[in-house]
Amino acid sequence: MSTTEMLQTDPLAQPTAYRVAQLSRDDRLFHIILAQQFDSELIETLCRLAEMIRNIADTKRGNQFLRSLLAHKRAMLYFIQPSTRTFLSFSAACQILGIPYNEVRNPSTSSEIKGETEEDTVHVLSQYFDLIIMRHPMEGFAERMAYKLNASLRPIPIINGGSGKDQHPTQAMLDIYTLLRSFEPRLADRVRPMLSGNPFHGRTIAFVGDLKRGRTVRSLCYLLCRYSGMRLVFVSPPELRMGEDITEYLDRHGIHHEECDDLNAVIRDCDAVYMTRLQDEHDKAGESKAIDYYKYSLTLEMVERAKPDLVIMHPLPRRAELDVRIDDDPRAKYWAQVRNGMWMRAAMIAYIFHTDATIIDHYQTHYTT
Ligand code: NCD
Repeated sequence: MSTTEMLQTDPLAQPTAYRVAQLSRDDRLFHIILAQQFDSELIETLCRLAEMIRNIADTKRGNQFLRSLLAHKRAMLYFIQPSTRTFLSFSAACQILGIPYNEVRNPSTSSEIKGETEEDTVHVLSQYFDLIIMRHPMEGFAERMAYKLNASLRPIPIINGGSGKDQHPTQAMLDIYTLLRSFEPRLADRVRPMLSGNPFHGRTIAFVGDLKRGRTVRSLCYLLCRYSGMRLVFVSPPELRMGEDITEYLDRHGIHHEECDDLNAVIRDCDAVYMTRLQDEHDKAGESKAIDYYKYSLTLEMVERAKPDLVIMHPLPRRAELDVRIDDDPRAKYWAQVRNGMWMRAAMIAYIFHTDATIIDHYQTHYTT
């Protein structure tokens, strides 16, 4: 097959709009694979749903209601790349919604050791479960499997829990939920009215660190393109700059972005700062060892010069780039980010299984005056 023919038949080489359509069904997301699948209406719907679920889960009765919703479904957590938060928050989200789940985390204990391909493994999983949540080191693997399952006898949804260096859409959703909770206090108090205005207008958000290989920032940039009027500042070592695919996407969506080599120069302007660690697991031959990553750290002294309502985020795990002395500052939102992830992932699973309307009804009947 010629390269042209291969590109014509490779679904990942198709325009994003085509891929997004293949990942949907009946005007809803069927799989969650790409951050480009979310528009502002869906982002806000899911943030409000997460907010409702966390309020409902406050009581024993509320928990019983939530646990009754999806007890007839089963989920597989297929995580063959290391994970703490994403894995645990997805398993907690399944527990909140009453979904029994199973896990494969180490392919050496599965038939892959006997030579079964990962594709066959996923096909097998689709026969036992109703949802596969997947973390995989290879970019595009979850997406390819979504198309394969679409064409199979038992198409079930796949949620991407991190695909190589490329995307981490559910992390991006919990990140934007964290930003919205901080910028839009009414989101927490009043979940009923839609967000008014544009909470991102006039905001400066700095992304710091390994922007070339950090999938969380890449996915969050796609989501931020659903809003306007913000300024993004990319602070990274020259070797680890944000990819052109993302900067071009930002340009196409009219989002102002600039590069900067020194966080000190912009920290006073920032409304949010999103730190990331060096993604050296993607090194080919230890090339990032030569980088002075310490320059791309956030220290308590810097935070002392920042705005009083700065939002400090990090997807975690952290290394030295985020000063532990910041942990007690109320502007540190990274622990809240972890917890927000559990509610947001419960909201996404509830949505995937069409139980969002039942949750909204329950909330409106029992929790609003
Ligand atoms: C991130 C990831 O896996 O991409 N972690 C996470 O999901 N919270 C960030 C990272 O590993 O640096």
